[in-house]
Amino acid sequence: GAVPIYTDASPALCFYVHAEHECRARAGTLHLPHGPVRTPLFMPVGTKAVIKGMLSSQLMVPALSPEIILANTYHCALEPGTDLLEEFGGLHEFMNWKGNLLTDSGGFQMVSLLKLAVITEEGVTFKSPMDGTPMLLTPEESIAHQNRIGSDIIMQLDDVVSSVANDDARFAEAAARSVRWLDRCVAAHARPRQQSLFAIVQGGLDTSHGGLREQCLEAMIGRNMPGYAIGGMAGGEEKDVFWRVVAQACDALPPGKPRYLMGVGYPLDLVVCTALGCDMFDCVYPTRTARFGVALVPGPTGLLRLRGREALGETGPIQEGCPCAACAGGFGRARLAQLLRGAALGCQLVTAHNLCFVLHLMRSMRAALLAGTFPAFVRSFVQTHFEGSA
Ligand code: GUN
Ligand code: ZN
Repeated sequence: GAVPIYTDASPALCFYVHAEHECRARAGTLHLPHGPVRTPLFMPVGTKAVIKGMLSSQLMVPALSPEIILANTYHCALEPGTDLLEEFGGLHEFMNWKGNLLTDSGGFQMVSLLKLAVITEEGVTFKSPMDGTPMLLTPEESIAHQNRIGSDIIMQLDDVVSSVANDDARFAEAAARSVRWLDRCVAAHARPRQQSLFAIVQGGLDTSHGGLREQCLEAMIGRNMPGYAIGGMAGGEEKDVFWRVVAQACDALPPGKPRYLMGVGYPLDLVVCTALGCDMFDCVYPTRTARFGVALVPGPTGLLRLRGREALGETGPIQEGCPCAACAGGFGRARLAQLLRGAALGCQLVTAHNLCFVLHLMRSMRAALLAGTFPAFVRSFVQTHFEGSA
């Protein structure tokens, strides 16, 4: 049914669901302090408060124009420091970004910077990658940093274990600790009227009845948060296991609140997980892969390697009809291949294309959900994706 669901869970967030398909996939609008954002959505990642190689003005062309982007608390705390950001009036002002911002708490850096992190009940101690000085990131400190950053959505500090780790006791500890840290984050949050705090569900890959994911879901749902994230994924798990974790969470989470799948950005996963009921995604994949000279395109592999020899003789664009600065700007594949060798412009143009591709995919799913044609959209996407690969 297409019954609109309206949630006014936090003064800084209001979520309308306009259309849904079989109580799972939905199209909605999330109203945040820096304007409405339409779901399902993808957040480009600007780890160090910049989407690498892109000017805000290059992002704000009609082909891209993300309504929300992601920055990272840990990196902002290191450089330029959140006291300085607060003096500037927050990260929006500092980076001259008119849209919405979501900050990740720094929890994920436990996995990505594992060799530099020590985790205790108090928090995580990182050694600065620059000079080795330790930085203790507690739930309270993470929230204080995010309060100074002024992002529209802030994330709890969570205890993240790589999903491919093989340590049941560690997964259990991390899930229970993430609930305790959520309570500390809620207590520490000084600006709940301006910034919405999301919980992050952990619990490894255990989807059994009464298992870790279920326990963590129940505990966090009981905290009645403005929104919920699914964490601990995107670490190279088997697809069927990963999708089952996502399905379980989407079934359990309250239907009127946004569901954010963290760190997921392969086009196939965006389609499948939107179908399962996720509203929000982020990933470095489209931007990072662009810097490797790889463009996202429709079709079986979904990838066009511009650094390979095949691109050299090709005059056509990455993707016919694409409105991005590269394809619509008259840059052929051979020209891009040449620019990628040494010129920053090459990376910039492929980044614009890849963001355009992913943002367009999200908007197409939204349009299909609103038009009631979502099943046909998914069938056609999956068919194109696997064409000729069987
Ligand atoms: N980014 C990708 N996965 C995660 C996660 O589990 N926790 C946090 N905080 N960030 C993430
Ligand atoms: Zn393009």
